[in-house]
Amino acid sequence: MGYDVDGKRVLVTGASAGIGSAVARGMAERGAIVGICARRADRLAEVLDDCQRYSPQSRSWVVDLADLDRVSSFALEADDALGGIDVLVNNAGIPKRRKVQALTVEEIDAVMGLNYLSPVRLILALLPRMLARAAEGREPAHIVNISSVAARLSPPGEAAYAASKAALTAFSECLAAELWDQPVDVHLINPGVIDTELFELPGNDPLLATDIEPLPPALVADLLVEQLDRGAFELYVPEWFRDLFAVKAGDIEGFIAGAAEYQRQREAEAGAEAGIGATPET
Ligand SMILES: NC(=O)c1ccc[n+]([C@@H]2O[C@H](COP(=O)([O-])OP(=O)(O)OC[C@H]3O[C@@H](n4cnc5c(N)ncnc54)[C@H](OP(=O)(O)O)[C@@H]3O)[C@@H](O)[C@H]2O)c1
Repeated sequence: MGYDVDGKRVLVTGASAGIGSAVARGMAERGAIVGICARRADRLAEVLDDCQRYSPQSRSWVVDLADLDRVSSFALEADDALGGIDVLVNNAGIPKRRKVQALTVEEIDAVMGLNYLSPVRLILALLPRMLARAAEGREPAHIVNISSVAARLSPPGEAAYAASKAALTAFSECLAAELWDQPVDVHLINPGVIDTELFELPGNDPLLATDIEPLPPALVADLLVEQLDRGAFELYVPEWFRDLFAVKAGDIEGFIAGAAEYQRQREAEAGAEAGIGATPET
């Protein structure tokens, strides 16, 4: 395939921190003109400074993508300002690590809003323009949706989050098939455990899978560039999660039983570490 990001116009949502900031920096270093957005102006300014060192035309927007009525107009504004988006990276997202019986309707709506409805609105707003530009001879555009291994593996304790990412994954697969013969490519990334602030945000239970080594966000950024270059639809970071998904597909009941057992073990270990069940000192 081969894809050169040099000179491309790349919009990265949720780029004030974590994976998004690494992707923005990585794209700018490779010569892309980068548009970044998030809510925190100060953090966004730091990332923009780094991007502009390599790519002076890069720019930023302070925007709350959970405000769904604002998303489409923001998309068109960014598209105009960047001169037509070649690569849309739908990265902004929030976690929700909480068991179903402790979830509120508002929490479920909030996760679904930012993780699924917002990227979908960005896609609906930008896709017609991407197709129109390609019809006029511009290189095909790319839509990269940052989903999660949670979408494929449905980890216990993350139902609201996993469902929001599974929705994004299903949407991406349908869209990729619909656009198969058209000049817009769709890609999906399933990060596993990446070392970001996502695990420190309030309103979440501790991560169950503390036995998995977190990987650096810059690795996701590098692999995304490789994925574009290979023209691959789906990327797992790390790759071994793909094998786990194959196991699940082959034996769903066994997989759910295994997930329940994993949860029991992890909770028992966490309880033991916290001294729960130990004889109180007198
Ligand atoms: N870290 C992981 O292990 C992991 C695993 C699987 C999938 N993912 C996915 O990867 C993506 C990036 O996550 P991360 O780990 O890099 O998390 P992070 O460090 O918490 O970064 C999240 C980014 O999203 C932005 N954001 C949050 N709410 C927003 C809103 N309402 N409007 C606009 N921007 C908003 C944040 O900026 P502001 O707070 O400034 O708005 C921040 O820039 C997410 O979609 C996440 O679900 C991460």
